[in-house]
Amino acid sequence: MERREFIDITSKTICACSLGVTGILLKGCSDNDSMPVEPQGLEITFDLNEEGFQDLKVNGGSIVTPSNELESKGLLLYRNNEIISAYANRCTHASYKLTPFNDSGLSFCVGHGAQFNTEGVPVTGPATRNLREFETLLEDDILTVFG
Ligand code: FES
Repeated sequence: MERREFIDITSKTICACSLGVTGILLKGCSDNDSMPVEPQGLEITFDLNEEGFQDLKVNGGSIVTPSNELESKGLLLYRNNEIISAYANRCTHASYKLTPFNDSGLSFCVGHGAQFNTEGVPVTGPATRNLREFETLLEDDILTVFG
């Protein structure tokens, strides 16, 4: 079984069980219109207890990470309850960086002002395409992003 297939099945199983299994939650990107990233066999792990990541321990928290092997402009991360969404920190208009999501659930492009909601969907142009989204796995305070 391919890892992506395993993750999809496991994610749906967990959701179907109404999150009866504690401590392990998967977020797939196949249930929305965001542009999925085909897994390349890479993964990066973040400890939410480390400096710079602690905002993600709170519901609604959002940060942008430094450059890493998954995305040279870093990742835009957003926590919604026990799921953390991971997007490329790269506007789909002309690849400028984005701000973390604010209290209204909007991320702003620093280039030309496009706004994206927490689903990675542009709500204000000039960007028209959804952000690239990565699959994630949150186990306690350890976030793994697959790319
Ligand atoms: S690069 Fe983001 S709106 Fe132009």
